[in-house]
Amino acid sequence: MNGGTAKFIVEPGNALNGTVTVPGDKSISHRSLMLGAVAEGQTHVKGFLPGEDCLATLAAMRAMGVSVERISETEVIINGVGMRGLKAPADVIDLGNSGTAMRLMMGLMAGQAFDVEMTGDSSLRSRPMERVAKPLREMGAAVTTTDGKPPVNVEGGAQLCGMEYAMPMASAQVKSAVLLAGLYAEGETAVIEPAVTRDHTERMLQGFGVAVKVDGARSSLQGGATLKGMAIDVPADISSATFPLAAGCVSASGAVSVVHAGINPTRTGIIDILRLMGCDLTVSDESEVGGEPVATLTAAASKLKGCDIPPELVPLAIDEFPMVFALAALAEGETRITGAEELRAKESDRISAMVDGLKNLGVQVEEFEDGAVIHGGEVAGGTVDSLGDHRIAMAFAVLASNATGPVEILDVDNVATSFPGFVDCMTSLGLKIRLDNAEKGS
Ligand code: S3P
Repeated sequence: MNGGTAKFIVEPGNALNGTVTVPGDKSISHRSLMLGAVAEGQTHVKGFLPGEDCLATLAAMRAMGVSVERISETEVIINGVGMRGLKAPADVIDLGNSGTAMRLMMGLMAGQAFDVEMTGDSSLRSRPMERVAKPLREMGAAVTTTDGKPPVNVEGGAQLCGMEYAMPMASAQVKSAVLLAGLYAEGETAVIEPAVTRDHTERMLQGFGVAVKVDGARSSLQGGATLKGMAIDVPADISSATFPLAAGCVSASGAVSVVHAGINPTRTGIIDILRLMGCDLTVSDESEVGGEPVATLTAAASKLKGCDIPPELVPLAIDEFPMVFALAALAEGETRITGAEELRAKESDRISAMVDGLKNLGVQVEEFEDGAVIHGGEVAGGTVDSLGDHRIAMAFAVLASNATGPVEILDVDNVATSFPGFVDCMTSLGLKIRLDNAEKGS
């Protein structure tokens, strides 16, 4: 989609073993910057994800006058400016590839006194933003999109009113945007979700001292709260952990472990799906850091079988579906994915990107509007296009370990948006992966 020139070349070889750490959680890293920026006092973040998406949010906060110190790659200190302390940025804010940054910031910007224009790369500029703009307008915000997409303008000085919003889709980004705007609104703002989505915003706001009420599918808060800076220990991202763990499942022998992985129950759909597919997956060393549960996850070499993926697991594993499609190609029998139409609104249309790539590797797949049926069996070598989507690129890289010939994966520059160090991590496990023509060094 972005026409990047870097590619992965992966040779077959499925002896993948070892213990790895993966980078910090992307969702939590974004939120720590945004909430830390409008808090009073310092917010000290450890385990921060230094991926390009979160660095775009970091640059946006600096552009609005927030001093953010980079103590190391993964440690930042945000000197909060308080709820009304952000300043007008001198220029358009470029959020790169990050839908999370744009959607959450639309909510945060809705309550500011100044105008902001936000844009992104060609992938982000093709993604739907009305899902956030619409409820924000109902709260009184002056938000305009460009044919429903970025660039997005948020006019300053609006008087926001709290409301109860029943979300038409299961989206943590929409929920979070409305709650962030609610911090600046008069009265109560409530969001009702149609299915459980990640709750990092609610948990982190509570950590910053905001009384967020969670009553089943309804989360609410009162406007006018003050946030107090805090220490945040970011768990490893279970979405990134999925790739080495999947490599462990499809290895001929042995096991792969990922330590300190976030296992927030709104994110662990992938554990359920892997187990349904016959993966021998264990959870050990459970503990809690800063209100988020963590554990070591271990996936042992397993004989995978196809299954019907329960649609209620879709929002709980939304970012893991590229890997699920790829694992299904190696499983015995048929895997049916339904209720997953949200995948079409991600960094790429992830249903068609996976279906097209799998077909290129000789896999029999039928595509539907909300999913696909994948017939497991042999996976051939060949060339697939990741369409500039980090998770499509990484899913095919893991799948390629079990192909019958080399697999070339195109347009992989964006892997650094969520998983800097992916190639080194997978190489340490034994994956025969090479990055060719690197521009960004993922
Ligand atoms: C995210 C929510 C999910 C997910 C994205 C991160 C978040 O998007 O796909 O990678 O941090 O809130 P939706 O809420 O739009 O499904």
